[in-house]
Amino acid sequence: MIDTPGIELVAAEAAAAGARQLLIVTSPDKDAVAAHFAPQPELEATLKERGKDALLAKVRRASELIEVRTVTQAEPRGLGHAVGCAAGALADDEQAFAVLLPDDLVLPTGVLSRMAEVRAEHGGSVLCAFDIPGPEISAYGVFEVADTDDPDVKRVHGMVEKPPPDQAPSSFAAAGRYILDRAIFDALERVTPGAGGELQLTDAVALLISEGHPVHVVVHRGERHDLGNPGGYVRAFVDFALRDPDYGDELRAWLAARLEG
Ligand code: G1P
Repeated sequence: MIDTPGIELVAAEAAAAGARQLLIVTSPDKDAVAAHFAPQPELEATLKERGKDALLAKVRRASELIEVRTVTQAEPRGLGHAVGCAAGALADDEQAFAVLLPDDLVLPTGVLSRMAEVRAEHGGSVLCAFDIPGPEISAYGVFEVADTDDPDVKRVHGMVEKPPPDQAPSSFAAAGRYILDRAIFDALERVTPGAGGELQLTDAVALLISEGHPVHVVVHRGERHDLGNPGGYVRAFVDFALRDPDYGDELRAWLAARLEG
């Protein structure tokens, strides 16, 4: 977005929520994604020499945010399979981890911290939900929920990936933020390919629920951008640019004139 790749935005979001390590699950030919987080000593020295402090801070930011490692997913076999690739990266004493899908921007950031609080209270796994009334719901994992005392926290009784609109159990859809108990890895080994022929994270969560594992959602009432398709990317870019202190005013004026013309 503007001058920051989506992967850096989610790295910053994870770091702000207290994560110390980011594991990027990537395909074999996508080294550039992790390379974005490597220090660039030559460029940094040049910027320093020329007194370009703001640019220097920008260039350094990614490498200073969080410790980054990668794991390769050899074949695109689905989100569940990608998450399973991270199994070996968890230390023995790490009981839970967060999954952030970088094509999904959940704004304002901060929902992960709220989700961690809910896990501390209820245990198990905690996901982020958006209320999506209407047929668009069938593009998502959809929750079957029951109310708790908190209107923004629901207990999940079932989850289904990309149901037809008339079979969606609610209007609460999974956004790309998850706090998962390590029990998910065992569940991922026991599910078979689901929607789209892919190994679905949704199906592993549903399996855990059926076995009594507590799953809750935090209903996020803010905004969301989907960078995973060109139309969504364009909207997100314009939205970020309009809020940008350097480019916002000029873009707003230009857009207004453009829309009138
Ligand atoms: C994935 C998940 C889906 C979730 C969505 C959020 O789907 O499988 O459950 O609702 O991310 O963006 P995808 O967008 O990869 O099709």
